[in-house]
Amino acid sequence: MKQLHSITELSNDTIMTTIQRAIEIKGGQVTNFNDVYVANLFFENSTRTKCSFEMAERKLGMQVIPFETSTSSVSKGESLYDTCKTLESIGCNVLVIRHPENDYYNQLKGLNIPIVNGGDGSGQHPTQCLLDLMTIYEEFGKFEGLKVVICGDILNSRVARSNYDALTRLGADVQFVAPEAWIDPSIPAKYVNIDDVIEEVDVCMLLRVQHERHDKASSFTQEEYNANYGLNQTRYDKLKEHAIILHPAPVNRDVEIISELVEAPKARIFKQMENGVYTRMSILSQVIEANPQ
Ligand code: CP
Repeated sequence: MKQLHSITELSNDTIMTTIQRAIEIKGGQVTNFNDVYVANLFFENSTRTKCSFEMAERKLGMQVIPFETSTSSVSKGESLYDTCKTLESIGCNVLVIRHPENDYYNQLKGLNIPIVNGGDGSGQHPTQCLLDLMTIYEEFGKFEGLKVVICGDILNSRVARSNYDALTRLGADVQFVAPEAWIDPSIPAKYVNIDDVIEEVDVCMLLRVQHERHDKASSFTQEEYNANYGLNQTRYDKLKEHAIILHPAPVNRDVEIISELVEAPKARIFKQMENGVYTRMSILSQVIEANPQ
């Protein structure tokens, strides 16, 4: 893995290698990269991805160069390319970037430094996808034949896009649940009613309602959203014994999922965050090994 822009650029073998290595790292097999310098450039807010990458980098012994958009020369109008070229020039070995623009990494093709995408607009969120896959694989030991339903704000979700691609390629049966306004015609998934599939699914993945990406207010209340598209106690009780609940978080409690269920026995939401550190350690280790200094 020389870089990671989109899950679509990873073969199934590389996805499986990444998961296996993350599981090995979780078991204690950690390589030290104390001569590697990394900067995390987050042009969009983040709690999990930013802190998880920094935790992963520090656990790998990497040197983390502090970077905040608000105090950098980005506030003076410096371009993304020039910011990244500067970090490459001063000796950084890898950059982790989150940016509101879809495919921002295409502007950076002239650089000689690997980019790991921490999320681009409504495009891709490959590290979230890989940590979701690790969490599913830990539970079921396979993807082939699993029934997955992804519910919510599909149109604005980079998580849905990345997960649909990877899970489908790995043999899972992925269906979507969404209000009419949040259907994404560019993804060839089947849309279903949540109540028609809740008893059959192995994985119920809930997506955050991304108010910040909506032009106009939703035509339904939080209660109506939960009643039609979210997880409540009635639906939870219908899930199979072994079914799991995922959510990339942050969670809008009582919208995508009622608050009492966020840490319910079938929920793996905080396990996803834990696995995110190991997954990002796996990704960074592979990227550094594929780009010898
Ligand atoms: N899941 C996720 O990407 O969360 P953050 O926006 O907090 O990084």
